[in-house]
Amino acid sequence: MEVKKAVLPVAGLGTRMLPITKVVPKELLNIVDRPTIEYVVDEAIEAGLETLIFIISQGKGNIIDYFDTNLNLRSFLRERGKMELLKKVEEVEDKVEHLIGIWQKTPEGLGHAILMAEKAVGDEPFAVLLGDDLVDAEVPCIKQMITMYKEHPANYIAIEKVAWEDVHRYGIIEGEEVSSGLIKIKKVVEKPKREEAPTNFAIIGRYIFNPEIFEYLKRIEKAPSGEYQLTDAIQLMINEGKEVYAYLFEGKRFDTGNKKGYFRTVLHYASKDPELKEVLLSFCKELS
Ligand code: G1P
Repeated sequence: MEVKKAVLPVAGLGTRMLPITKVVPKELLNIVDRPTIEYVVDEAIEAGLETLIFIISQGKGNIIDYFDTNLNLRSFLRERGKMELLKKVEEVEDKVEHLIGIWQKTPEGLGHAILMAEKAVGDEPFAVLLGDDLVDAEVPCIKQMITMYKEHPANYIAIEKVAWEDVHRYGIIEGEEVSSGLIKIKKVVEKPKREEAPTNFAIIGRYIFNPEIFEYLKRIEKAPSGEYQLTDAIQLMINEGKEVYAYLFEGKRFDTGNKKGYFRTVLHYASKDPELKEVLLSFCKELS
């Protein structure tokens, strides 16, 4: 079966980016000229994903509003002859063919958020794209993973090697390399201490799951953090003989959910625009 649906969990409180996230979801923070979430949505669409299921929470409905049609704005721009701007607005509003919004009413973690999508996903494989991880790649990261899924329909998780001092910020995997860049996972640990991390292969926010994951998400217990961890469900799947692979994707990943990562992301995407790159370089000269 083809992967046609994507779950985008964007319900997180964004505490690392407070105080702005009191009023602006971190997924709507601007990266040069578009909010973070639009880059994620573009990746999903380029990968051929047709139904996007947003898991949102109170105060984050404007993530969906961003992709909704604003008829008043359209007619205002048309009347004023602002056709270029109208084109830009229409482009965003016409982007997502089929959007579903599901509210996660209590902040009970990523595992819980994904389980909320069960009915909307149904009995199909699906992709998960976290709203604060961006991947700049020639072939979109989730598309690379869908290609792997087509060849061998198992569960896939994108990983990258991170610095050892950062392992405590991620889910960390351990396993056996089955082919270049592909590891069959034996163990996953959520945010281990540096001395307890089995490797420095970190999970980044791109996954492909068979619908069987939902049964495992129902069976896990809350972690001491008070959250249902997706990694616990993954470990349970592995324990019961399901195939889960970690994939070293091609591309560059950016974590927009903290101050330094957000800054790097803005600089990276700005430097892709020749005019902005010039501004950036001359500003760096001023600083040095
Ligand atoms: C979540 C996952 C973690 C993963 C990370 C990637 O953590 O729980 O396993 O490594 O996303 O961004 P969060 O960043 O939501 O705390």
